[in-house]
Amino acid sequence: MDGPPPLNPDPEAPHPQVAALKAELDAVRRREAEFRANMVQEFLDRGERNTYLHTLRQERAALIARGQEASADLEYLVRKLEAEGERRAALEAQLGRLWNSWSWRLTAPLRALMRLPAGGAGAGAAQGGVEGGVFTYYLHTSPFRVYRGDAFTLRGWAFPQDGRRVTAIRAVVDGRSFVGRHGLEEPEVIARYGAQPANPLPGFEVRFETPPGRHLLSLEAQLEGGEWRWIVRTSIWCEPGPMTSGDANARWSESTSTLGDRSAYKKVWDLQAQDPDVASLAVAGHMDEAKLELTARGFIDTLRETVGLGPHDVVLEIGCGIGRVGKPLSRECLHWFGADISGGMLAHAAGRLGDRPNTTLVELATVGLQEFPRDAFDLVYCTIVFMHLLEWDRYRYVEEAFRVLRPGGRCYFDNFPLDSEHGWKVFTACAQYPVDRRPAHISMASTREELGIYLRKAGFEEVCVRDLPNQLIAATGRKPG
Ligand SMILES: C[S@@+](CC[C@H](N)C(=O)[O-])C[C@H]1O[C@@H](n2cnc3c(N)ncnc32)[C@H](O)[C@@H]1O
Repeated sequence: MDGPPPLNPDPEAPHPQVAALKAELDAVRRREAEFRANMVQEFLDRGERNTYLHTLRQERAALIARGQEASADLEYLVRKLEAEGERRAALEAQLGRLWNSWSWRLTAPLRALMRLPAGGAGAGAAQGGVEGGVFTYYLHTSPFRVYRGDAFTLRGWAFPQDGRRVTAIRAVVDGRSFVGRHGLEEPEVIARYGAQPANPLPGFEVRFETPPGRHLLSLEAQLEGGEWRWIVRTSIWCEPGPMTSGDANARWSESTSTLGDRSAYKKVWDLQAQDPDVASLAVAGHMDEAKLELTARGFIDTLRETVGLGPHDVVLEIGCGIGRVGKPLSRECLHWFGADISGGMLAHAAGRLGDRPNTTLVELATVGLQEFPRDAFDLVYCTIVFMHLLEWDRYRYVEEAFRVLRPGGRCYFDNFPLDSEHGWKVFTACAQYPVDRRPAHISMASTREELGIYLRKAGFEEVCVRDLPNQLIAATGRKPG
């Protein structure tokens, strides 16, 4: 060797050889993890367990296509409505000209006489005997488009072209009348059409309610002298609004089975997965997508702090539900496998995960991880599931986690404890159910000892049971090796 070895300019910086070795080790770890992820995938494919996922993806693609067709139809209908609106405006203008003409005015008494024998409204008086007027109007909130919710507020301005004063505004929807507010300021009108001496404040606002479906709307103004004239008539379409939490709670109650069914996990959870809102309520207690993401992020932090989480990890979630955790976690690991006993829940998970290539959903045939090979995963976790399982089934999943984890792999299981304020609250709340109406999936606590015993008996080492900030307890361990 010629002279002393060169001094490392930065004593903190890793030696280049160490850095190269670390990079190589990292590459080996990644290759090994990829190999294991492929192995699980092949295992699933060989057992044709992936058929289910494949079907879900096909169903999803078909639903997307149907959605696209529906919006194209809608667009077409809206265009048609707009064209009809323009045609009607032209006719109304024509009618206005005719109305103001001398011949029309001269023949008015004759037309009145012709109407008398019929004893009712003439040809021009459609719905409710109200005739059309000639108005200059504008709607700020267009009712022609599809809208959601069971109430709608129509805002705009209108004044009759014959210069009469508007004394009231109403919307008549399928014969039901909703009186609105009128006499609201509309500076635009004066700027565009000049001062309207009879209607200096031509703005209005009218709120009406409709059940979902197609309805006939007639927006009407009362003119001085008391007669009503319609301003615009159109059919409108009201889409059912998003489910309120009250509806979803009622549907969720209906979807529950009684305690006798507690082991019938597939039936119990498929029943609750029939509707996406109810599924979200059953899984997370709410239907708020932002909150799902937020709580999932909190859980990922817990995983990181308790068992660690790395970009090369091949991860399995037992009881993944609608993929609440899997959606954000799949961005932080090599591959995320979500297993659940309920195909219905997995269908929602498939929709939420989209086509993320590093995610796989697997429907479990029964309690256990029989669908997966041994030594396959770096991390197996199970959150907010144990409270719904019988003790034997909790232990079965711990044993199975041990089998499918690679040597050195980590596990995480949680539940709520009985000996905490929150745990006792849940316990006493659940005690309120009449004996014969206890839901099958009613939440049941674990003790710290119970979870510790399961993990040790299954063969895990470094077993630790700890309290989490979110009122749960978590048992973690490592497979020897
Ligand atoms: C309260 S949800 C929790 C879902 C998910 N872990 C999360 O935190 O968002 C419980 C989930 O466990 C699933 N499940 C219930 N019994 C099961 C069983 N025996 N085996 C596997 N999954 C089960 C249900 O279908 C449901 O998706």
